[in-house]
Amino acid sequence: MIYYPLMKMKEIGMKSVLIVSGKGHAGHFLELLGSGSEFGMSISYEVQEEAGGIAQALALAEDFCADEDLAVMLADNIFEDHLASSVKYFEDSSDDAHVFLTHVKNPSSYGVAVFDEEKIIDIEEKPKNPQSNFAVTGFYLYKKNVFDVIRNLKPSARGELEISDVNNYYIKAGKMGHTTLTGFWGDCGESFDSLMEASKFIQNLK
Ligand code: G1P
Repeated sequence: MIYYPLMKMKEIGMKSVLIVSGKGHAGHFLELLGSGSEFGMSISYEVQEEAGGIAQALALAEDFCADEDLAVMLADNIFEDHLASSVKYFEDSSDDAHVFLTHVKNPSSYGVAVFDEEKIIDIEEKPKNPQSNFAVTGFYLYKKNVFDVIRNLKPSARGELEISDVNNYYIKAGKMGHTTLTGFWGDCGESFDSLMEASKFIQNLK
């Protein structure tokens, strides 16, 4: 599954990628992907010691990013859309963050965008009563100030540093942009069905 997100990162022009994984899997990724030279990329690795949330995993990328803006992809997310034009748009914009939304039938399983007209005014993480059918997918663009935002985050009720809290910071600051995707999107970690659906999508790629 890791190959597809890696190729997506390559498609947007990323030559250096950091893989953050839990202790149990770090060795497997290293063994499978090595330095990344086989894919024309440079791959580095970090280990997240505990299940502390996506924002905690992202914080481990601070040294890796140095002064660069960053693109974050959850490695269980499968995107059909070409993402490069939104990345270019973000780079040229004054926004500090950018999220990618897609229409889903089961919004309660995801971070969900709340709108006022066209504008996102909030992201609710796995809400019981979702206010839209637009899920926030696992691809995020940030300026380097994201690490300061994470430093000031408080853990959520489930004890994790939530990526939706990072995104809500930028929404409140008026610094968030978004793209609405139109192609296939799958979150393979959501359910066995979504894993099967994403596998079929990849199998049918020419
Ligand atoms: C995470 C995010 C959620 C997002 C989802 C996309 O959820 O917290 O906002 O919609 O990824 O895959 P998780 O898959 O970790 O439950």
